[in-house]
Amino acid sequence: MAKRVVIGNMKTTMNYDDVIAYIDRMKKELRYTGVILCPTSLYMPYFKEANFKLGLQNIFYENTGSYTGEILPSQAKSMKIKYTIIGHSERRNYLNESNTVINKKVKTAVDNKMGVILCIGETKEERTMMRTEEVLRKQIYMALKGIDNLKNVVIAYEPIWSIGTGLVPSKRDLEKTIKMIKHYIKEYKEGYEMNVLYGGSVNSENIEELVTIKEINGFLVGGASTKADEFLKIIDVVKGSN
Ligand code: PGA
Repeated sequence: MAKRVVIGNMKTTMNYDDVIAYIDRMKKELRYTGVILCPTSLYMPYFKEANFKLGLQNIFYENTGSYTGEILPSQAKSMKIKYTIIGHSERRNYLNESNTVINKKVKTAVDNKMGVILCIGETKEERTMMRTEEVLRKQIYMALKGIDNLKNVVIAYEPIWSIGTGLVPSKRDLEKTIKMIKHYIKEYKEGYEMNVLYGGSVNSENIEELVTIKEINGFLVGGASTKADEFLKIIDVVKGSN
């Protein structure tokens, strides 16, 4: 099995002082090359100076022009930031990001040879109504529509009811869902094998069991990635599972 990646989605919870202390600690103790940190863009230069592998939490779908407040792939590239998360559920929910917009973003990012971490996941209601499969399939098909080159795309399966709640699907459920996602990708692009990550309340306790699920090719860690201690423990377990 290829080395598992660990991606830190640091969201918006850290202030400047937290960031400086965090970088200091991680610089000294991070010993795994499979880690990509996605800090709030505002702090990117500090992370860059410390030589971490970096990703954005979001990107825009145009590559040139004036779009106040956005970050374009061309700009990311000029900073040598090679990865971006796209379609996180917080953006889908709070910022009304549709599958159509997400598709445009994936397209532009792929055209710019960026590594894309495409987030998909069902709500609690959709799960209760047994609609998980249909929802995930639609998210995959719409996000990847018209995109031929999937080489730099991975999917992060993040059930929305699991994000920030401490709830994690059972091992059996995860095995089943991740297999299904891989099947949909193969169906979408004949036989294509894509890596699928898991995200949602990953912490230093549940990671021990999560790494035993062989279908999972890596992890997208939210809250726990902003606490250096906790994140380093998670990374250690993942590293040991390779
Ligand atoms: P969480 O977030 O680990 O805090 O649940 C995961 C994510 O939103 O990517």
